[in-house]
Amino acid sequence: MNSPIIDDLTWRYTTKSYEPTKKISAENMAIIEEALRLSASSINSQPWRFIILESDEAKQRFSNTFANKFFPNKPHATNASHIILFAHNTHYSKQDFEAVIDQNILDGRLTEDKKDDAVSKFSFADLYTEPNGYNANWTKAQLYLAFGNMLHVLARLKIDSTPLEGIDIQLVEKEFSQELEGFSCPVALAIGYHDESDFNAKLPKSRLPAEKVIKKI
Ligand SMILES: Cc1cc2nc3c(=O)[nH]c(=O)nc-3n(C[C@H](O)[C@H](O)[C@H](O)COP(=O)(O)O)c2cc1C
Repeated sequence: MNSPIIDDLTWRYTTKSYEPTKKISAENMAIIEEALRLSASSINSQPWRFIILESDEAKQRFSNTFANKFFPNKPHATNASHIILFAHNTHYSKQDFEAVIDQNILDGRLTEDKKDDAVSKFSFADLYTEPNGYNANWTKAQLYLAFGNMLHVLARLKIDSTPLEGIDIQLVEKEFSQELEGFSCPVALAIGYHDESDFNAKLPKSRLPAEKVIKKI
């Protein structure tokens, strides 16, 4: 199939070993940050935080969270160029959504007189919100949209990556409690450039056949 999109998606793979001396350029990091910010979310809620670990000290703190489990993922913490912690608000509120609407007004999408009507669209989030305000299932779904979007963006930039659900969530949330501000971090992403020993770089891509996962009716 002749398509740059398919080329990118076939090129990307889960990197298992990083070359620690190869760093992502500041220019590419700026693109990555802006792509994260531009991710789509239900009612434009943006119930997320992206914590980018770039200093050796921050990456070492992440490495320390592999004290008890997921050891194969630990080397990425310090060998990858950067780590992105993907975090979501577990109690996304009407006040949080009001900040989005205020931004809409600042960006010229909405006039002040339409604000109350726009904020009332939070009723959609209410459908997924428990009486105590907990709506983490819904906000986590939004977070993974940004995550998937980022995998594609990285492929376009020819930057390697490793999705990391194999993290000790409790330890990560404890270590980065100040930066996470109460948000939950179910997944991280190591990004950088693979080294020669990465066995996964040489394996062929494998996916279920199209007829199993796509139904045309
Ligand atoms: C949400 C998510 C979490 C993942 N967590 C891990 C992980 O903790 N460690 C790991 O080595 N790979 C992890 N993977 C990689 C998958 O195993 C991999 O994407 C899948 O086997 C498809 O292979 P490919 O990414 O090379 O195309 C994860 C992938 C996703 C999408």
